[in-house]
Amino acid sequence: MLSYRHGFHAGNHADVVKHLVLLGLLQKLQGKDKPFTYIDSHSGAGLYDLDSDAARVNSEHLSGVVPLWQKRGTDPLLNLYLDKVSEFNSTRALHHYPGSPSLALGCLRPDDRMHLLELHPAEVEALRINMGRDTRVSIHYRDAFEGLLALTPPEPRRGMVLIDPAYEEKEDYKRVLSAVLKLQRRWPVGIIAVWYPLLARQRDRSAWLKAAIARENLPDVLTVELTVQEQDEEFGMHGSGMLLVNTPWQFREQMQATFTEVVSVLGEGARFRVEELHA
Ligand SMILES: C[S@@+](CC[C@H](N)C(=O)[O-])C[C@H]1O[C@@H](n2cnc3c(N)ncnc32)[C@H](O)[C@@H]1O
Repeated sequence: MLSYRHGFHAGNHADVVKHLVLLGLLQKLQGKDKPFTYIDSHSGAGLYDLDSDAARVNSEHLSGVVPLWQKRGTDPLLNLYLDKVSEFNSTRALHHYPGSPSLALGCLRPDDRMHLLELHPAEVEALRINMGRDTRVSIHYRDAFEGLLALTPPEPRRGMVLIDPAYEEKEDYKRVLSAVLKLQRRWPVGIIAVWYPLLARQRDRSAWLKAAIARENLPDVLTVELTVQEQDEEFGMHGSGMLLVNTPWQFREQMQATFTEVVSVLGEGARFRVEELHA
């Protein structure tokens, strides 16, 4: 039973780190004149209404994308992200927030391809509507972990996968680890990007996930983490991170520059960490 709906969280600090890293990776893929494949294992609905009842429950975007949107900046990747968000808003006020499939669609060239997986029936229906008809896009109503392996290695061979579960079940951490290892064997050139939450001390599993990946000696592993408050003992998500395999050249430096500006805009309490993972 899937209960998570991303509409309650769209545009929050977790989306900020996830979508900045995603756009940075897609930019790297666009840097070569060869087509690529983008796979989104947990796609969500693709586009979110920030005025909806769901989004207004906690208005998480107010401490995520909104301060960045209001201030803008000088970092090129941060501005690219804000420009992409603008494309879904016709006024200066922010009413819509694009999910990862919509952000990625805007980065596709004519020969690039995209596979979107989603298992929640209402979310996949919304995704179909929000993505429109585009021959470069395939939408799969199927389980992410099973579908990912069936779809790899993809054609074109260059490319990346975003693995973005809701971690509703503890088992998701083990499923992510197993998927990363299998994917890396089946698709050695693919860039793998995994989102993970940074939770209260008693519930946090990020250290376990990172240590398990580090032990495997995978190529060019980088983590990028953004936190917006101190870690609590029992409750809450104080930040989140992206774990990358096959990190592109000079991406670490780019992340340092982008997130220096992000935390300066988000202000007191915001911190970031960019680290290479080794055994
Ligand atoms: C965090 S949201 C995705 C957000 C999206 N990637 C974005 O950045 O805009 C996670 C999504 O995974 C879906 N989901 C949960 N378990 C799944 C599974 N086993 N296979 C495919 N999708 C799943 C949920 O329905 C939810 O829409």
